[in-house]
Amino acid sequence: MYNIDIPELEPDRQYYFMNRCKELIYEKQVELNRPLTYCVTTFGCQMNAHDSEKLKGILEAIGYEEVDDESADFVIYNTCTVRENANQKLYGHLGLLKNYKKTKNPNMIIALCGCMMQETHVVETIRTKYPFVNIVFGTHNIYKLAELIYNNLTGEKRVIEILEKSTQTVEALPQKRKYSFKSGVNIMYGCNNFCSYCIVPYVRGREKSRKPEDILTEIRELARRGVKEVMLLGQNVNSYGKIYDYSDGKIVPMPEGDSITFPALLKKVCEIDGIERIRFMTSHPKDLSDELIKVMASEPKICKHLHLPVQSGSTDILAKMNRRYTKEGYLSLVDKIRQAMPDISLTTDIIVGFPGETEEDFLDTLDIVSKVKYDQAFTFIYSKRTGTPAASEVNQVPEDVVKDRFNRLLTLVNTISNERINRYSGQTKDILVEEINHQDSNLLTGRTEENITVHFEGDSSLIGDIIKVKLIECRGFYYIGERI
Ligand code: SAH
Ligand code: SF4
Ligand code: F3S
Repeated sequence: MYNIDIPELEPDRQYYFMNRCKELIYEKQVELNRPLTYCVTTFGCQMNAHDSEKLKGILEAIGYEEVDDESADFVIYNTCTVRENANQKLYGHLGLLKNYKKTKNPNMIIALCGCMMQETHVVETIRTKYPFVNIVFGTHNIYKLAELIYNNLTGEKRVIEILEKSTQTVEALPQKRKYSFKSGVNIMYGCNNFCSYCIVPYVRGREKSRKPEDILTEIRELARRGVKEVMLLGQNVNSYGKIYDYSDGKIVPMPEGDSITFPALLKKVCEIDGIERIRFMTSHPKDLSDELIKVMASEPKICKHLHLPVQSGSTDILAKMNRRYTKEGYLSLVDKIRQAMPDISLTTDIIVGFPGETEEDFLDTLDIVSKVKYDQAFTFIYSKRTGTPAASEVNQVPEDVVKDRFNRLLTLVNTISNERINRYSGQTKDILVEEINHQDSNLLTGRTEENITVHFEGDSSLIGDIIKVKLIECRGFYYIGERI
């Protein structure tokens, strides 16, 4: 029924539902005579981690308290589907939740969201085989969490709402950040690259940049609250600013006056007082401009760390992957970057066993790794994703061959990372202190601008500060340091 009280426009509509949920949660707390709790479990990438901060912001605004316990009153999984194993994990966990709901907490509301929910077959499975799941939504309507909870609390037993595309970007909703001193900031959503192995464009939708002023306003506000480090997030930040909207299948450019490139946006972020470190993720090599290299080299606030996924070293495989660069093109890009910033830390993602990958193709991957000498490389076994072009390739590489290649690659990657990290031995570095060490509470843990983890003695009052630490002893992938 049409209700005149409910605002039609966002974010007002969601604030209305947050208030209504708050009343209902309060009533429930009185009835049970205890606080109501929530637990968010996140799978997948930085984008999902940041989405979870938005979910938490809404859950706290409506009166739930966070706990690290999957028998909480509101349990939500923010899912990932980039590889099959990410996908499998969910069903295992769901069995556990069913049991908790039965034995530990009959009040539990179970919700699922994120990339996996954008797949029709998954939602169908949840619908038919997992009747105890109460709320299901996807990547395009995270902002509606309060409204969906409200519908559930007021009688709708199962609320399932999956949108095919993002119709709007809702700004100014609450967020609960994991750290008070660093934060992710979305600068764009979705992806238009359609790498042939990748499911992300299908589950995250078309590329869409946020307006620069909205981004800058958010970062200024973060700085005002004490945030020192921001991570600008997008599947392909180098194409930031090109597309404002694509949801109706035709490209709408950024409105006049708002049009800006990614390096120009970075420069504006550098101007914000209080922000001392700027990171970004991810850069697609095909769109990395000379202007970006120049801005990175000249702005001290931009961390000298670049994640530049190569995926494969074989030009043939890269073409089949639809990456739109060659082995030589990638290598000359790396040269250009290293000429401008000799000390930069380079990291990458590599896929082994893409359909049709020959031993020769794989040797090209080993070769590019040896030539670039990555500080760190994340290696993945190719995983067939239904609906992507590569999934229908007949020429899948046998499992034992892939495993053997994967192990050879891992050995090389680790040897090089070890060599690379040792180059910092004895240097004094600025460290952003992040937390008390999980194993030894006398130690603090922080990171250099190159993203190297350093543990050193100190007390918790330093958390959130940037301080000088000498890197004394390299232990594999991290350092033991000493405060100067
Ligand atoms: N937008 C980012 C990557 C996002 S997905 C980029 O283009 O760099 C993160 C990583 O997962 C990718 O870089 C790729 O290495 C890996 N990946 C994506 N799809 C995969 C698949 N089907 N099988 C194995 N690894 C995959
Ligand atoms: Fe996937 Fe390619 Fe888009 Fe990255 S750029 S999200 S790998 S399609
Ligand atoms: Fe996974 Fe979605 Fe990120 S599929 S890697 S959580 S964009």
